[in-house]
Amino acid sequence: MRRQQLSQSNIEVSALALGTDLIGSKIERGRSFALLDFYHELGGNFLDTGNFYASWIPGCQGGESETTIGLWMKERRNRDKMVISTKLAFDYPGSPGGLCAGEIERECEMSLKRLQTDRLDLYQAHRDDRSVPIEETMEAFHRLVKAGKVRILGASNLPLWRISEANVIARGKAWTPYSVIEQRYTYLRPRHGADFGPQIFLSDDLKDYASYYGLTLMGYSVLLRGAYIRADLHLPVQFAGPDSVERLRTLSEVSLEAGCTLAQTIIAWMLQSKPAVLPIIAGSQENQLKENSDALNVTLTEAQMQRLNTAGNPTLNQGWIQPK
Ligand SMILES: NC(=O)c1ccc[n+]([C@@H]2O[C@H](COP(=O)([O-])OP(=O)(O)OC[C@H]3O[C@@H](n4cnc5c(N)ncnc54)[C@H](OP(=O)(O)O)[C@@H]3O)[C@@H](O)[C@H]2O)c1
Repeated sequence: MRRQQLSQSNIEVSALALGTDLIGSKIERGRSFALLDFYHELGGNFLDTGNFYASWIPGCQGGESETTIGLWMKERRNRDKMVISTKLAFDYPGSPGGLCAGEIERECEMSLKRLQTDRLDLYQAHRDDRSVPIEETMEAFHRLVKAGKVRILGASNLPLWRISEANVIARGKAWTPYSVIEQRYTYLRPRHGADFGPQIFLSDDLKDYASYYGLTLMGYSVLLRGAYIRADLHLPVQFAGPDSVERLRTLSEVSLEAGCTLAQTIIAWMLQSKPAVLPIIAGSQENQLKENSDALNVTLTEAQMQRLNTAGNPTLNQGWIQPK
Protein backbone atom coordinates (compact mmCIF):
# COMPACT_ATOMS: atom_id res chain seq x y z
CA MET A 1 0.00 0.00 0.00
CA ARG A 2 1.46 3.36 -0.90
CA ARG A 3 2.55 5.68 1.89
CA GLN A 4 2.17 9.36 2.57
CA GLN A 5 3.35 11.85 5.11
CA LEU A 6 0.91 12.75 7.87
CA SER A 7 0.55 16.52 7.56
CA GLN A 8 4.06 18.04 7.75
CA SER A 9 5.32 15.53 10.30
CA ASN A 10 7.86 12.79 9.68
CA ILE A 11 5.18 10.15 10.25
CA GLU A 12 4.58 7.92 7.21
CA VAL A 13 1.16 6.31 6.95
CA SER A 14 -0.47 4.02 4.43
CA ALA A 15 -2.94 5.62 2.04
CA LEU A 16 -5.83 3.89 3.85
CA ALA A 17 -6.31 3.81 7.61
CA LEU A 18 -8.10 0.92 9.29
CA GLY A 19 -11.07 1.79 11.47
CA THR A 20 -11.11 -0.33 14.60
CA ASP A 21 -14.14 0.83 16.60
CA LEU A 22 -15.61 -2.70 16.74
CA ILE A 23 -12.32 -4.55 17.21
CA GLY A 24 -12.36 -6.55 20.45
CA SER A 25 -16.05 -5.89 21.12
CA LYS A 26 -18.61 -6.74 18.42
CA ILE A 27 -15.75 -8.45 16.56
CA GLU A 28 -14.25 -10.95 19.00
CA ARG A 29 -10.51 -11.13 19.66
CA GLY A 30 -9.59 -13.96 17.30
CA ARG A 31 -11.40 -12.39 14.35
CA SER A 32 -10.00 -8.99 15.31
CA PHE A 33 -6.44 -10.31 15.19
CA ALA A 34 -7.15 -11.93 11.79
CA LEU A 35 -8.49 -8.63 10.39
CA LEU A 36 -5.55 -6.65 11.79
CA ASP A 37 -3.16 -9.23 10.30
CA PHE A 38 -4.93 -9.04 6.96
CA TYR A 39 -4.81 -5.23 6.82
CA HIS A 40 -1.13 -5.29 7.78
CA GLU A 41 -0.40 -7.90 5.07
CA LEU A 42 -2.10 -5.59 2.56
CA GLY A 43 0.58 -3.06 3.51
CA GLY A 44 -1.49 -0.97 5.92
CA ASN A 45 0.14 0.57 8.98
CA PHE A 46 -2.35 3.18 10.21
CA LEU A 47 -4.89 2.22 12.89
CA ASP A 48 -7.70 4.56 13.93
CA THR A 49 -9.03 3.90 17.42
CA GLY A 50 -10.51 5.82 20.35
CA ASN A 51 -10.50 5.52 24.12
CA PHE A 52 -14.25 4.88 24.42
CA TYR A 53 -14.51 2.28 21.60
CA ALA A 54 -16.86 0.47 21.92
CA SER A 55 -18.74 1.42 25.09
CA TRP A 56 -22.06 1.51 23.17
CA ILE A 57 -21.94 -2.24 22.49
CA PRO A 58 -23.94 -4.12 25.16
CA GLY A 59 -21.59 -5.63 27.73
CA CYS A 60 -18.69 -3.33 26.82
CA GLN A 61 -17.09 -0.62 28.95
CA GLY A 62 -14.94 1.20 26.39
CA GLY A 63 -11.22 0.56 25.91
CA GLU A 64 -11.82 -2.78 24.14
CA SER A 65 -10.44 -1.57 20.81
CA GLU A 66 -7.24 -0.09 22.31
CA THR A 67 -6.72 -3.15 24.51
CA THR A 68 -7.06 -5.52 21.57
CA ILE A 69 -4.69 -3.48 19.40
CA GLY A 70 -2.20 -3.41 22.29
CA LEU A 71 -2.36 -7.19 22.67
CA TRP A 72 -2.04 -7.69 18.92
CA MET A 73 0.99 -5.41 18.60
CA LYS A 74 2.64 -7.12 21.56
CA GLU A 75 2.01 -10.60 20.17
CA ARG A 76 3.13 -9.62 16.66
CA ARG A 77 6.02 -7.47 18.00
CA ASN A 78 5.18 -4.82 15.44
CA ARG A 79 4.58 -1.65 17.47
CA ASP A 80 7.34 0.20 15.61
CA LYS A 81 5.78 -0.70 12.26
CA MET A 82 2.36 0.70 13.16
CA VAL A 83 1.06 4.26 13.41
CA ILE A 84 -1.59 4.59 16.11
CA SER A 85 -4.22 7.28 16.22
CA THR A 86 -6.45 7.43 19.26
CA LYS A 87 -8.85 10.02 20.63
CA LEU A 88 -10.54 11.29 23.75
CA ALA A 89 -13.46 13.49 24.83
CA PHE A 90 -16.53 11.22 24.77
CA ASP A 91 -17.59 9.95 28.18
CA TYR A 92 -17.52 6.27 29.05
CA PRO A 93 -17.49 4.33 32.32
CA GLY A 94 -14.74 5.83 34.48
CA SER A 95 -14.33 8.97 32.39
CA PRO A 96 -16.57 12.06 32.31
CA GLY A 97 -15.25 12.99 28.85
CA GLY A 98 -14.35 16.50 27.75
CA LEU A 99 -11.06 18.25 27.13
CA CYS A 100 -9.93 19.70 30.48
CA ALA A 101 -6.26 19.29 31.38
CA GLY A 102 -6.89 16.59 33.99
CA GLU A 103 -8.94 14.49 31.58
CA ILE A 104 -6.35 14.81 28.81
CA GLU A 105 -3.52 13.74 31.14
CA ARG A 106 -5.44 10.85 32.67
CA GLU A 107 -6.94 9.52 29.45
CA CYS A 108 -3.58 9.68 27.68
CA GLU A 109 -2.11 7.45 30.40
CA MET A 110 -5.07 5.06 30.11
CA SER A 111 -4.66 4.82 26.32
CA LEU A 112 -0.89 4.27 26.59
CA LYS A 113 -1.50 1.50 29.10
CA ARG A 114 -4.20 -0.25 27.07
CA LEU A 115 -2.17 0.04 23.87
CA GLN A 116 0.94 -1.20 25.73
CA THR A 117 3.05 1.57 24.27
CA ASP A 118 5.01 4.60 25.40
CA ARG A 119 3.71 6.98 22.72
CA LEU A 120 0.60 7.83 20.73
CA ASP A 121 1.52 8.80 17.18
CA LEU A 122 -1.60 10.89 16.67
CA TYR A 123 -3.76 12.03 19.59
CA GLN A 124 -7.08 13.60 18.68
CA ALA A 125 -9.77 15.60 20.37
CA HIS A 126 -12.79 13.44 19.50
CA ARG A 127 -15.32 16.24 20.00
CA ASP A 128 -15.47 19.87 21.05
CA ASP A 129 -15.68 20.94 24.69
CA ARG A 130 -16.79 24.53 25.12
CA SER A 131 -16.79 24.33 28.91
CA VAL A 132 -12.98 24.45 28.94
CA PRO A 133 -10.81 27.37 27.75
CA ILE A 134 -9.03 26.46 24.53
CA GLU A 135 -5.74 27.53 26.16
CA GLU A 136 -6.14 24.84 28.82
CA THR A 137 -6.80 22.12 26.24
CA MET A 138 -3.96 23.08 23.91
CA GLU A 139 -1.45 23.54 26.71
CA ALA A 140 -2.32 20.13 28.15
CA PHE A 141 -1.94 18.51 24.72
CA HIS A 142 1.37 20.31 24.20
CA ARG A 143 2.70 19.06 27.55
CA LEU A 144 2.12 15.50 26.31
CA VAL A 145 4.02 16.23 23.10
CA LYS A 146 6.91 17.76 25.05
CA ALA A 147 6.96 14.70 27.32
CA GLY A 148 7.27 12.44 24.24
CA LYS A 149 3.96 10.70 24.97
CA VAL A 150 2.27 12.09 21.86
CA ARG A 151 3.83 12.87 18.48
CA ILE A 152 1.21 15.02 16.73
CA LEU A 153 -2.31 16.29 17.46
CA GLY A 154 -5.57 16.03 15.59
CA ALA A 155 -9.13 17.32 15.86
CA SER A 156 -12.19 15.26 15.05
CA ASN A 157 -15.76 16.59 14.99
CA LEU A 158 -14.71 20.14 15.77
CA PRO A 159 -16.16 23.00 13.73
CA LEU A 160 -13.68 24.92 11.61
CA TRP A 161 -13.81 28.07 13.74
CA ARG A 162 -12.83 26.12 16.88
CA ILE A 163 -9.93 24.39 15.10
CA SER A 164 -8.77 27.70 13.69
CA GLU A 165 -8.98 29.43 17.08
CA ALA A 166 -7.13 26.57 18.79
CA ASN A 167 -4.35 26.67 16.19
CA VAL A 168 -3.97 30.46 16.33
CA ILE A 169 -3.60 30.19 20.12
CA ALA A 170 -1.21 27.22 19.87
CA ARG A 171 1.01 28.88 17.27
CA GLY A 172 1.06 32.14 19.27
CA LYS A 173 2.30 30.29 22.36
CA ALA A 174 4.66 27.98 20.44
CA TRP A 175 2.51 25.00 21.44
CA THR A 176 1.66 22.10 19.14
CA PRO A 177 -1.29 22.86 16.82
CA TYR A 178 -3.80 20.38 15.40
CA SER A 179 -2.30 19.07 12.17
CA VAL A 180 -4.77 16.32 11.25
CA ILE A 181 -8.53 16.75 10.97
CA GLU A 182 -10.87 13.75 10.98
CA GLN A 183 -14.49 14.39 9.99
CA ARG A 184 -17.37 12.38 8.65
CA TYR A 185 -17.12 12.16 4.85
CA THR A 186 -18.52 10.28 1.89
CA TYR A 187 -19.43 10.84 -1.74
CA LEU A 188 -23.08 11.74 -1.12
CA ARG A 189 -23.61 15.24 0.20
CA PRO A 190 -25.77 15.82 3.27
CA ARG A 191 -28.96 17.74 2.67
CA HIS A 192 -29.11 21.27 4.01
CA GLY A 193 -29.43 21.30 7.80
CA ALA A 194 -28.72 17.56 8.18
CA ASP A 195 -28.10 16.67 11.81
CA PHE A 196 -25.36 14.13 12.61
CA GLY A 197 -25.47 14.63 16.38
CA PRO A 198 -21.92 15.10 17.68
CA GLN A 199 -20.41 14.17 14.32
CA ILE A 200 -19.41 16.85 11.84
CA PHE A 201 -19.39 16.41 8.07
CA LEU A 202 -16.28 17.66 6.27
CA SER A 203 -17.10 21.09 4.82
CA ASP A 204 -15.68 22.85 1.76
CA ASP A 205 -14.39 25.62 4.05
CA LEU A 206 -12.45 23.08 6.07
CA LYS A 207 -10.92 21.63 2.89
CA ASP A 208 -9.77 25.13 1.96
CA TYR A 209 -8.32 25.67 5.46
CA ALA A 210 -6.52 22.32 5.41
CA SER A 211 -5.04 22.99 1.96
CA TYR A 212 -3.76 26.40 3.05
CA TYR A 213 -2.02 25.05 6.14
CA GLY A 214 -0.97 21.69 4.67
CA LEU A 215 -3.03 19.68 7.16
CA THR A 216 -4.01 16.07 6.51
CA LEU A 217 -7.74 15.41 6.21
CA MET A 218 -9.17 12.03 7.21
CA GLY A 219 -12.69 10.79 6.49
CA TYR A 220 -14.80 8.30 8.43
CA SER A 221 -18.06 6.46 7.66
CA VAL A 222 -16.99 6.64 4.04
CA LEU A 223 -19.18 3.73 2.90
CA LEU A 224 -22.21 4.53 5.08
CA ARG A 225 -21.78 1.13 6.72
CA GLY A 226 -22.33 -0.55 3.36
CA ALA A 227 -25.66 1.16 2.60
CA TYR A 228 -24.47 2.22 -0.87
CA ILE A 229 -24.19 -1.44 -1.77
CA ARG A 230 -26.39 -3.53 0.47
CA ALA A 231 -30.04 -3.87 -0.47
CA ASP A 232 -30.97 -4.58 3.17
CA LEU A 233 -29.69 -1.19 4.41
CA HIS A 234 -31.23 2.26 3.86
CA LEU A 235 -29.08 5.28 3.11
CA PRO A 236 -29.13 7.55 6.16
CA VAL A 237 -31.92 10.13 5.94
CA GLN A 238 -29.37 12.97 6.28
CA PHE A 239 -28.26 12.17 2.73
CA ALA A 240 -31.71 12.46 1.17
CA GLY A 241 -30.67 15.69 -0.52
CA PRO A 242 -31.73 17.29 -3.82
CA ASP A 243 -28.67 15.99 -5.67
CA SER A 244 -28.48 12.49 -4.16
CA VAL A 245 -30.31 10.59 -6.91
CA GLU A 246 -28.13 12.17 -9.56
CA ARG A 247 -24.95 11.52 -7.57
CA LEU A 248 -25.90 7.87 -7.06
CA ARG A 249 -26.57 7.52 -10.78
CA THR A 250 -23.21 9.08 -11.69
CA LEU A 251 -21.42 6.93 -9.12
CA SER A 252 -22.88 3.79 -10.74
CA GLU A 253 -22.04 4.97 -14.26
CA VAL A 254 -18.44 5.84 -13.43
CA SER A 255 -17.95 2.58 -11.53
CA LEU A 256 -19.18 0.62 -14.56
CA GLU A 257 -16.86 2.53 -16.89
CA ALA A 258 -13.87 2.22 -14.58
CA GLY A 259 -14.55 -1.49 -14.05
CA CYS A 260 -14.66 -1.19 -10.28
CA THR A 261 -17.18 -1.40 -7.46
CA LEU A 262 -19.09 1.51 -5.95
CA ALA A 263 -16.98 1.29 -2.79
CA GLN A 264 -13.79 1.46 -4.82
CA THR A 265 -15.00 4.48 -6.79
CA ILE A 266 -15.86 6.34 -3.59
CA ILE A 267 -12.46 5.59 -2.06
CA ALA A 268 -10.59 6.43 -5.28
CA TRP A 269 -12.57 9.68 -5.61
CA MET A 270 -11.57 10.69 -2.07
CA LEU A 271 -7.92 9.89 -2.69
CA GLN A 272 -7.85 11.78 -5.99
CA SER A 273 -9.80 14.81 -4.75
CA LYS A 274 -8.04 18.10 -4.15
CA PRO A 275 -7.33 18.25 -1.32
CA ALA A 276 -7.19 14.49 -0.88
CA VAL A 277 -9.07 12.98 2.03
CA LEU A 278 -7.47 9.91 3.63
CA PRO A 279 -10.22 7.28 3.93
CA ILE A 280 -10.64 5.20 7.07
CA ILE A 281 -11.78 1.82 5.80
CA ALA A 282 -13.42 -0.82 7.98
CA GLY A 283 -14.96 -4.22 7.61
CA SER A 284 -15.85 -7.38 9.43
CA GLN A 285 -14.68 -9.57 6.53
CA GLU A 286 -11.32 -9.86 4.82
CA ASN A 287 -12.94 -9.63 1.37
CA GLN A 288 -14.32 -6.18 2.25
CA LEU A 289 -10.87 -4.94 3.24
CA LYS A 290 -9.40 -6.42 0.06
CA GLU A 291 -12.07 -4.81 -2.12
CA ASN A 292 -11.60 -1.48 -0.40
CA SER A 293 -7.80 -1.54 -0.58
CA ASP A 294 -7.94 -2.47 -4.27
CA ALA A 295 -9.36 1.04 -4.77
CA LEU A 296 -5.70 2.08 -4.72
CA ASN A 297 -5.38 0.45 -8.16
CA VAL A 298 -8.23 2.54 -9.58
CA THR A 299 -7.33 5.72 -11.45
CA LEU A 300 -10.29 7.89 -12.31
CA THR A 301 -9.81 10.16 -15.33
CA GLU A 302 -10.07 13.90 -14.96
CA ALA A 303 -13.36 13.78 -16.85
CA GLN A 304 -14.72 11.14 -14.46
CA MET A 305 -13.63 13.18 -11.45
CA GLN A 306 -15.32 16.23 -12.95
CA ARG A 307 -18.55 14.27 -13.53
CA LEU A 308 -18.49 12.91 -9.98
CA ASN A 309 -17.84 16.37 -8.55
CA THR A 310 -20.52 18.14 -10.52
CA ALA A 311 -23.21 15.44 -10.47
CA GLY A 312 -26.49 16.96 -9.34
CA ASN A 313 -25.05 20.41 -9.81
CA PRO A 314 -23.99 20.57 -13.46
CA THR A 315 -23.69 24.36 -13.57
CA LEU A 316 -20.97 24.29 -10.91
CA ASN A 317 -18.27 26.76 -11.96
CA GLN A 318 -20.12 27.46 -15.19
CA GLY A 319 -22.15 30.50 -14.29
CA TRP A 320 -24.84 31.44 -11.84
CA ILE A 321 -28.52 32.17 -11.73
CA GLN A 322 -29.41 35.84 -11.95
CA PRO A 323 -31.61 36.82 -8.98
CA LYS A 324 -34.92 38.44 -10.08
N1 LIG B 1 -13.90 10.28 14.55
C1 LIG B 1 -15.13 9.82 14.68
O1 LIG B 1 -15.98 10.43 15.34
C2 LIG B 1 -15.52 8.51 14.05
C3 LIG B 1 -16.88 8.17 13.92
C4 LIG B 1 -17.21 6.95 13.31
C5 LIG B 1 -16.20 6.13 12.86
N2 LIG B 1 -14.89 6.49 13.02
C6 LIG B 1 -13.80 5.59 12.56
O2 LIG B 1 -14.06 5.19 11.25
C7 LIG B 1 -14.09 3.77 11.20
C8 LIG B 1 -15.06 3.32 10.14
O3 LIG B 1 -16.36 3.81 10.45
P1 LIG B 1 -17.64 3.14 9.84
O4 LIG B 1 -17.73 1.74 10.30
O5 LIG B 1 -18.77 4.07 10.09
O6 LIG B 1 -17.24 3.15 8.27
P2 LIG B 1 -18.06 2.73 6.98
O7 LIG B 1 -17.04 2.64 5.90
O8 LIG B 1 -19.22 3.62 6.78
O9 LIG B 1 -18.67 1.29 7.32
C9 LIG B 1 -17.87 0.16 7.45
C10 LIG B 1 -18.77 -1.06 7.32
O10 LIG B 1 -19.29 -1.10 6.00
C11 LIG B 1 -19.33 -2.45 5.56
N3 LIG B 1 -18.42 -2.55 4.41
C12 LIG B 1 -17.10 -2.26 4.37
N4 LIG B 1 -16.60 -2.45 3.15
C13 LIG B 1 -17.62 -2.89 2.40
C14 LIG B 1 -17.72 -3.26 1.05
N5 LIG B 1 -16.67 -3.19 0.25
N6 LIG B 1 -18.94 -3.66 0.60
C15 LIG B 1 -20.01 -3.70 1.41
N7 LIG B 1 -19.99 -3.35 2.71
C16 LIG B 1 -18.79 -2.95 3.19
C17 LIG B 1 -18.91 -3.31 6.72
O11 LIG B 1 -20.07 -3.64 7.44
P3 LIG B 1 -20.29 -5.09 8.05
O12 LIG B 1 -19.08 -5.33 8.90
O13 LIG B 1 -21.57 -4.95 8.82
O14 LIG B 1 -20.38 -6.03 6.91
C18 LIG B 1 -18.05 -2.37 7.51
O15 LIG B 1 -17.95 -2.70 8.87
C19 LIG B 1 -14.42 3.32 12.61
O16 LIG B 1 -13.96 2.01 12.87
C20 LIG B 1 -13.68 4.35 13.42
O17 LIG B 1 -12.31 3.99 13.51
C21 LIG B 1 -14.54 7.67 13.58
